[in-house]
Amino acid sequence: MKLFLLFTFLTTAYADIACPSGFTLVLDKCLKVIPNPLTHTKAEVDCTYLGGTLAAVYSAINKTWLGLFCFSEQNSSSCYHDDNSGTASVYNNFAPGYPLINGIYGGCVYMSTEGSLAGKWVSMNCKAETLPFVCEVPSTIYDPTCTHNYDGYCYYPSTELKTTQAKFSNAQSICQQEFNGNLASIHSKRENDYFVSLFRKIRYADNILLGAQELLPDTFSWNDGSNYADFDNRNPLDTGSKGCLVLVSSTGLWERVDCSFERVFLCKRPLSETTTPTPIAELVTSNPSDFSNCNTTFLMAPGVITSYGYLSLSADTTYCTWRIVTLGAYRIRLSFVDFNSPNPVYVYDEYGKRTDRISSGTCVISPTNIMNVTFQNSGIAGYRGFRAVAQPY
Ligand SMILES: *[C@@H]1O[C@H](CO)[C@@H](O)[C@H](O)[C@H]1NC(C)=O
Ligand SMILES: *[C@@H]1O[C@H](CO)[C@@H](O)[C@H](O)[C@H]1NC(C)=O
Ligand SMILES: *[C@@H]1O[C@H](CO)[C@@H](O)[C@H](O)[C@H]1NC(C)=O
Ligand SMILES: *[C@@H]1O[C@H](CO)[C@@H](O)[C@H](O)[C@H]1NC(C)=O
Repeated sequence: MKLFLLFTFLTTAYADIACPSGFTLVLDKCLKVIPNPLTHTKAEVDCTYLGGTLAAVYSAINKTWLGLFCFSEQNSSSCYHDDNSGTASVYNNFAPGYPLINGIYGGCVYMSTEGSLAGKWVSMNCKAETLPFVCEVPSTIYDPTCTHNYDGYCYYPSTELKTTQAKFSNAQSICQQEFNGNLASIHSKRENDYFVSLFRKIRYADNILLGAQELLPDTFSWNDGSNYADFDNRNPLDTGSKGCLVLVSSTGLWERVDCSFERVFLCKRPLSETTTPTPIAELVTSNPSDFSNCNTTFLMAPGVITSYGYLSLSADTTYCTWRIVTLGAYRIRLSFVDFNSPNPVYVYDEYGKRTDRISSGTCVISPTNIMNVTFQNSGIAGYRGFRAVAQPY
């Protein structure tokens, strides 16, 4: 009887919720089992392709990857969910002693569904074994008239409309008049991935017009009135000065373009009340006037690092290290937007191997979701130092 009531409650509460095609609604989650075994890293990449993240579910498969990554030994508060929903400190079911990260172990987590470890979580090296996995995308609101339904919004790619390419002002009025929507805004890495997926098979659609405009110098705003500061995925090395933005599907980054040029575009309409996006973890620096994030052991991308005393031109000799991490198996793109020092910046992968020596404005991409960076101020007066922007990639 209790079970029946619970079931009725759940069906009522989730009556309007729906999933994008290919996904199945399981309570409030939209899931897709991918039985083809892959390493954790490859599974994440495949799931990202669908605008999703790895999910935790109990299913008929023996072992399954969880969408969780741990950064430190025996500390479940250092295990972050890929979907930005926080850490595993509140609820987790690690086998005794886990998570174990160092040596033969690793930061990826799987769950066994049988034997003595049934239901228990175990951490291991992300590339050591191939397992089946479950991909999760945000649930959305049921609307049979909407073909591209994702996370509470309906999307209309121009490649499926009469006018496949238009300049900014025309594209915006098509979205308003024909769909009661706006040119699309983007508020998360997942939504950015979904956006790219809608144009993936279209050869001429590498640059997709976004619904943002530069209203004040270097200050962009979304046409639909949503908050631009939520998620800014502009390429920090883009030196253009034009007033519109496109999403470059080959890199996933946004670049400035001329508003009067005709391009493919995407319209977006809310299906009803939408949830507020989760805020980005705040950075804490010991000196409130210092934005270097010097010696942070854990800088969650997106974020900014600079040399200590950046722009001061003083003869400083401070040494700094940064450990930059990102959720799931997204890689990190570190763009040096300013570089002025006789000393280089060194970049290391998560295994301590030096991958780059930076001595000019450039960008580097980490092979995994962890990157270490070191820099020694030269002690010679007259140099600005450097500033670099870290983004999930
Ligand atoms: C689970 O593993 C056992 C062997 O350990 C195997 O016999 C069984 O078929 C597997 N079940 C599934 C659903 O893969
Ligand atoms: C566990 O990790 C969290 C997050 O990184 C950190 O704040 C905390 O101090 C760690 N706890 C221990 C006991 O190391
Ligand atoms: C960062 O750490 C290094 C070595 O651990 C230390 O020498 C340096 O003074 C630290 N920098 C700052 C700004 O605290
Ligand atoms: C990366 O940096 C952290 C702290 O900044 C340090 O504890 C760790 O040993 C470094 N790892 C490698 C591989 O250099």
